[in-house]
Amino acid sequence: MIEVANLVKKFRDLVAVDGIRFKVEQGEVLGFLGPNGAGKTTTMRILTGALPASSGDVTIAGFDVFEKPLEVKKRVGYLPEVPPLYEDMDVAAYLIFVARIKGIHRKKIIEECARVARACGLPDVIGRRIGNLSKGFKQRIGLAQALLGDPEVLILDEPTIGLDPNQIVEIRALIKQLAEKHTVILSTHILPEVTQICSRVAIIHRGKIVADAAIEQLTSEDRSLEQTFHELTQQ
Ligand SMILES: Nc1ncnc2c1ncn2[C@@H]1O[C@H](COP(=O)(O)OP(=O)(O)O)[C@@H](O)[C@H]1O
Ligand SMILES: [Mg+2]
Repeated sequence: MIEVANLVKKFRDLVAVDGIRFKVEQGEVLGFLGPNGAGKTTTMRILTGALPASSGDVTIAGFDVFEKPLEVKKRVGYLPEVPPLYEDMDVAAYLIFVARIKGIHRKKIIEECARVARACGLPDVIGRRIGNLSKGFKQRIGLAQALLGDPEVLILDEPTIGLDPNQIVEIRALIKQLAEKHTVILSTHILPEVTQICSRVAIIHRGKIVADAAIEQLTSEDRSLEQTFHELTQQ
């Protein structure tokens, strides 16, 4: 479903993404795990077509991200690190606004907005001003906008960052549910998040993938994911 080969992104002298290569099969949930500054956000922005690469190849559902960005955008729902919300809008108006931008057919907009609102637990706040809602609800709205148009692939950048423990539990449960029907890449620097939600993990450190395996392969009875992660991301 997703294929990334020799991906490089330079910001002037800084090599933020340094020859990354990985594949995600349909239905897989890949955890993109790495310390701050490892290159997770940069890689995800490139995958969604939000940022050009310096070199390398990315295809999603068979479409080249750089040659067919519109085809890719139709198939990818993206939750950026900071959700692109308009605080002055109410939830319904915002979802309708995003649905229009995504080119969802006029006659389908209301039905589709209602569908994603239900999927993300938003019906009770649908008429509320976004700016007055909690961070947990804002994150749900961010997920809802990513789901508009029912994309096959979801790319979620640190979806639980800044949430309180209860909100974290709720959002993780919601992502787990979404993962049943989508191919997902989720970035995080929180190890339990990976073990709870993901089937596979790619550990990224200084722009390079230093491990890419099923979670069971990176752990054993006398070896935790924490230990593996710590060893691979030291220095
Ligand atoms: N637009 C940018 N301009 C310059 N440097 C950037 C830009 N975006 C990210 N970087 C740098 O690239 C590196 C990787 O950042 P990022 O992808 O945000 O890491 P992560 O999401 O893993 O924390 C960092 O050193 C960061 O400072
Ligand atoms: Mg980031």
